[in-house]
Amino acid sequence: MGPLVTQLFGLISLTVALDNGLLKTPPMGWMAWERFRCDTDCKDDPENCISEALFRDTADRLAEDGWKELGYEYVIIDDCWMSLLRDEHGRLQPDPSRFPGGIAKLARYIHDRGLKLGIYADMGTHTCMGFPGTTLDKIEIDAQTFASWGVDYLKFDGCSSNPVEQMLGYPLMSKALNATGRPMAYSCSWPVYIGGLPPNVNYSFLGDICHLWRNYYDIQDSWDSVQGIIEWFSNNQDDLQPAAGPGRWNDPDMLIIGNFGLSVDQARSQMALWTIMAAPLIMSNDLRNLDNCARAILQNKVAIAINQDSMGIQGRRLLKGNHIEVYWRPLSHSASVLVFLSRRTDMPYLYHTSLAKLEYDAGNYEVCLPAMSYLVSLLCTEMVS
Ligand SMILES: *[C@@H]1O[C@H](CO)[C@@H](O)[C@H](O)[C@H]1NC(C)=O
Ligand SMILES: *[C@@H]1O[C@H](CO)[C@@H](O)[C@H](O)[C@H]1NC(C)=O
Repeated sequence: MGPLVTQLFGLISLTVALDNGLLKTPPMGWMAWERFRCDTDCKDDPENCISEALFRDTADRLAEDGWKELGYEYVIIDDCWMSLLRDEHGRLQPDPSRFPGGIAKLARYIHDRGLKLGIYADMGTHTCMGFPGTTLDKIEIDAQTFASWGVDYLKFDGCSSNPVEQMLGYPLMSKALNATGRPMAYSCSWPVYIGGLPPNVNYSFLGDICHLWRNYYDIQDSWDSVQGIIEWFSNNQDDLQPAAGPGRWNDPDMLIIGNFGLSVDQARSQMALWTIMAAPLIMSNDLRNLDNCARAILQNKVAIAINQDSMGIQGRRLLKGNHIEVYWRPLSHSASVLVFLSRRTDMPYLYHTSLAKLEYDAGNYEVCLPAMSYLVSLLCTEMVS
């Protein structure tokens, strides 16, 4: 970080805070990106293209299929919703053929079902897929536009900008969102673009201006991708873990459960690990076509309750060896949870450990629940058979 950037840091951090009481527990919901990408071809692929129908259908499913009651409340639009041109007042506008009703109407539809709407913009000249970006001079007007539409959550990406612009733009957007008077959750992709770790990223500052932030590369629909993310988060947990807490969350990216790339065991593992990492539970899948097994994993009440624990302490990897890893997360009421992740291929494998190895003091412990992935697995087996 150059001296200019460091100075800017000091200047901005005195003047900004977005403590509007939102996201005291990690956000839960659904986002279009990993599953539906930038499919804009509504003529040949009307079911899957980025259009108001996709978000309305998803809102219907969240409201009618038991998701909302479990806490899955945000319906989040990602890239590719915009028209290639701003309107005559310089405001962003949706693509007129794919969002003929406009975003305000879509927001009402979503609110009428007791859900919340998220939208996407990009700090820079263009979004990652080439749609209009939010340059520094457009931050205020874009925040106002989103508020006027009734948006509840902004994902602010960082393609097509440099580190100095990002250093200015992310705090400015925080301030601009606050100035609208509409409480909006603010998801910052900033860390991804500057390496994700201190000293490039000041997580204490980031937590003051954003509710959550993407630390690392986009998730893809594969176990390799999930493993890469877990590995990076665990290897860097000393920097990342203390940054999390109520209203400020590390975001390892979407849940891909229910798509094509994960086996049932791998899907359970993603759910268990996201739970223990106090990660946002934001699915990207097709809720109109979801098999019962994926549904059972994503709707596991124990996993969700642990993820949403009110203390908001992110878990840590305690042990790693013999292709077995043990993760631990403290919970309220003096409870805690362990996840045993096996990457062994010679199953069944008998794993021995002890309280001391798991950093528990000697003493008596009551086992309240069987291990979470076991529970997920029980439910799953029931539903499938
Ligand atoms: C704006 O920021 C102040 C101070 O952090 C906070 O009390 C208020 O709730 C925020 N309002 C909105 C709409 O974000
Ligand atoms: C990080 O940000 C905090 C404000 O949240 C500030 O007090 C601190 O000095 C910053 N640290 C560095 C190394 O810039």
